[in-house]
Amino acid sequence: MTPARPTERGDCRPSATADSGGPPPPSGFLGPQATLIHPLTSILEPLEPTKLFPRPQPLEVELGSGDGSFAVQHARLHPGRNLLAVERLLGRLRKIDRKGLRAGLANLRLVRIESSYLLEYLLPRESAFALHVYFPDPWPKRKHRKNRLINARFAELAHRVLMPGGRVYLRTDDEDYFAQMAAVFAAEPHFLQSETPAELSGILTDFERDFVAKGVSTLGAAYQRR
Ligand SMILES: C[S@@+](CC[C@H](N)C(=O)[O-])C[C@H]1O[C@@H](n2cnc3c(N)ncnc32)[C@H](O)[C@@H]1O
Repeated sequence: MTPARPTERGDCRPSATADSGGPPPPSGFLGPQATLIHPLTSILEPLEPTKLFPRPQPLEVELGSGDGSFAVQHARLHPGRNLLAVERLLGRLRKIDRKGLRAGLANLRLVRIESSYLLEYLLPRESAFALHVYFPDPWPKRKHRKNRLINARFAELAHRVLMPGGRVYLRTDDEDYFAQMAAVFAAEPHFLQSETPAELSGILTDFERDFVAKGVSTLGAAYQRR
């Protein structure tokens, strides 16, 4: 994956507020120049999920949303849940924004930030009931595996942000990474192996669709916080 260019950083304010020069619109307002991208005005202040969305509903978070097909479909299927899609590349975030706005999704918001940072510092404790991590960068070379998102620290952070009974849903095409995911959660006493509902696994991500088209098999798992 190409990392975000430094010049792109900080350039994701909603056009409605950036252009008006006036006070920010009320929560949930979606004007003609609206965006679903939440402007992180400070990376030190924790997010208040209830202020991100027009309705206070159960929160799910997708980490590394890519082009956002999963996020948009999932949000559309579950208007009674709020979905926060996290992606570090601005170009991809903007794609999701366009798709989400076209679909008129009030329950989808986007944020540009590193996933681990969001889990550690920005999401309140026990604020989410599901984390979706689909086809995270596999870092197949042994010397790069330390960069993988799903590691022992991730399980601790998932425990931090998930409410009791909340679940982590994982998918990958990389067998070695899948084994690492399984080992990480097997070693974490706060989680039990769980099931992925058929309705959820039926929503394919963009990468997954490519893998399926090429005949590449994929793996998935779910873990539930005790
Ligand atoms: C292999 S793609 C998968 C995208 C999508 N989940 C899918 O299945 O189509 C991984 C995505 O995660 C993003 N990403 C990688 N590391 C990230 C991180 N630490 N925080 C946020 N996004 C990240 C990448 O920019 C990329 O869009």
